[in-house]
Amino acid sequence: MPNVKFINEKRTVEVPEGANLRKEAMKNGAELYSGPDRYLNCRGFGLCGCCRVHVKSGKENLNRMGVWEWLMTRFHPIRWWVRIGEEDKMRLACQTKIYGDCEIEERPDMNLHGEKFWN
Ligand code: FES
Repeated sequence: MPNVKFINEKRTVEVPEGANLRKEAMKNGAELYSGPDRYLNCRGFGLCGCCRVHVKSGKENLNRMGVWEWLMTRFHPIRWWVRIGEEDKMRLACQTKIYGDCEIEERPDMNLHGEKFWN
């Protein structure tokens, strides 16, 4: 069974193969949402972008990003600028399935100085 390390929670949990990252985070007490997003999220339908996480390692052990998720992590009207230059490491937890070990940073900070921002 894959191990998922939630970096901000400083916790590693074992999850079933193919498990949904958002559900496993909630089941294991890892907070994905900050502020009002805790209550004002789309409940896992991939619409709000609130559950975005930064995959620090093990990206190859996750399912492939679908077109909708790709659009949401790059062109979301409110959240697209959060991790400029690291979009390919950003995932929506609710759209992510786990097939192997990975390290996940929940609630990633803004990165206004990403390598592509000022270029
Ligand atoms: S919970 Fe809204 S996009 Fe994942």
